Amino acid sequence: MAKTSNINLLHWWQRGVIYQIYPRSFKDTTGNGVGNLEGIIAKLDYLNDDTPNSLGINAIWISPFYPSPMADFGYDVANYCDVDPLFGNLDIFDRLLTQAHRRGIKVIIDYVPNHTSDQHPWFQESRRSRSSPKRNWYIWRDRNPDGSLPNNWGSPFGGPAWTWDEQTRQYYFHHFLKEQPELNWREPAVRSAMFDALHFWLKRGVDGIRIDVVGMLIKDPDLLDNPPNPDADPNLPPNDIFGRQLHLYNEDQDEVQEIIRQFRWLLDQYGDRCAIGEIWYRLPRWIRYYGQNGDGLHMPFNFRLMNQPWEANAIRQSVDELEKALPSFAWPNYVLGSHDANRLASRIGPLQARVAAMLLLTLRGTPTLYYGDELGMENFAIPASRMRDPQGHRLGAARSRDGGRTPMQWDDSANAGFSTHEPWLPISPEHKTCNVACLSTEPTSILNLYRRLLWYRHSTPALQVGTYRPIDAGNNSCYVFARKHSNVSCIVALNFTNQTCSLSVPQGGNGKLVLSTYLDQEGPVSLSNLQLRSNEGIIVELNQ
Ligand code: GLC
Repeated sequence: MAKTSNINLLHWWQRGVIYQIYPRSFKDTTGNGVGNLEGIIAKLDYLNDDTPNSLGINAIWISPFYPSPMADFGYDVANYCDVDPLFGNLDIFDRLLTQAHRRGIKVIIDYVPNHTSDQHPWFQESRRSRSSPKRNWYIWRDRNPDGSLPNNWGSPFGGPAWTWDEQTRQYYFHHFLKEQPELNWREPAVRSAMFDALHFWLKRGVDGIRIDVVGMLIKDPDLLDNPPNPDADPNLPPNDIFGRQLHLYNEDQDEVQEIIRQFRWLLDQYGDRCAIGEIWYRLPRWIRYYGQNGDGLHMPFNFRLMNQPWEANAIRQSVDELEKALPSFAWPNYVLGSHDANRLASRIGPLQARVAAMLLLTLRGTPTLYYGDELGMENFAIPASRMRDPQGHRLGAARSRDGGRTPMQWDDSANAGFSTHEPWLPISPEHKTCNVACLSTEPTSILNLYRRLLWYRHSTPALQVGTYRPIDAGNNSCYVFARKHSNVSCIVALNFTNQTCSLSVPQGGNGKLVLSTYLDQEGPVSLSNLQLRSNEGIIVELNQ
């Protein structure tokens, strides 16, 4: 299980920590209640000013800022080569890039190749007539002779994945909203147009792309019906057709690997750039997205820890399975929060959120941190009248993603320092105490824990590149592992419960406790007798 690396050979996306910014919600500088690119520039020092007073992240991934009617808040792109005026313009983007690079922060943009907006000129042309030169850029089908839909596929947003176009009397396919028609990646002209968009941004100097639902790009050529999923949750809303099916034919088709190799080949022409993909499949399917010899994605996002019960054994098992399955060329990565999920601190509780911070920043592989999780931001009841997420509107408030997308809390002022105007989503009532300004002044706050962990990681090759070894320390409520590089080891011990716990690391000996999630103790400890308080994580450093 020991996989070791030479720190000098690592790429920036292996050494660093990625921070996801949902631009609508990060910082508004124009006073319209929606965040923008200037807002990101204004907060770059918060992210990394090269001192431990800043968070210390190394790369930002910015969710879409392209021109868009915002039916899915930017994941419905109407022009791949521009910036929506709501967020700024290309000059501001270039300035963001320069300012980020000046601080050593890489910039990863969201690339949404699976679908466009229905307002994109390509789709407008495609739907004009059946003989349009762009007709085949999208997926059009006749209705069945009995009048039924072309197949039984559903949308993850609820309802069927087909919409009838009265003018040309055919259905078009869309996994997501009807305002997000699916591009036909079997059409060479689509590939070439979408590759041009990539060149456009890579030439400007972006350092990487996060590819939206990349596993969906290719569908079964005959669009065969999906079988029912016998394990589907019986309580799904009636219109959740997608949730009731096994997705055998609508996604994860073998041919998508060829397209991913093309993305990779294109990126490699620009030097040390990085391709990350949004891939949700089970381990054996997921792992294929690294490519056969590392010629696929640099990192398929690993969301696996978000889907485990938050228990020491389950988390350890998930990490161990991944470590075992990864081929030597594949670099691991971990994600604990995103704009599609409920807040980390709400899923596992505020006390465990600190343990999660230590886990994320000490495992072997690249961590991706979601904006606001460093404050322990939580979901809160958003009134129905303020719900914005189309998924919530279609599948019910419980499925709304708004709770994980509320504005960043910078200070305790009326709009949390996010905007001078009523924000597009409500501000958490907790923002009076849960904000950057306030948590910065509390020496043991979760924000300061994140800062300490990040900067400790940066100065500790064992955590950046060291081997990973799980340890049986005689107590199932804790997850214990070692990271080792050269003659330095870090033992990480995480207590997933609200009980105290005693551990005995078999190798024994003494070490130095360098960090507790409580940020209140350091000093010598005995490995054969480690005492963890409830909800505590510690890092013990050993020099051998
Ligand atoms: C991805 C995005 C999500 C979006 C969907 C459609 O899953 O993360 O936010 O709604 O794709 O683009």
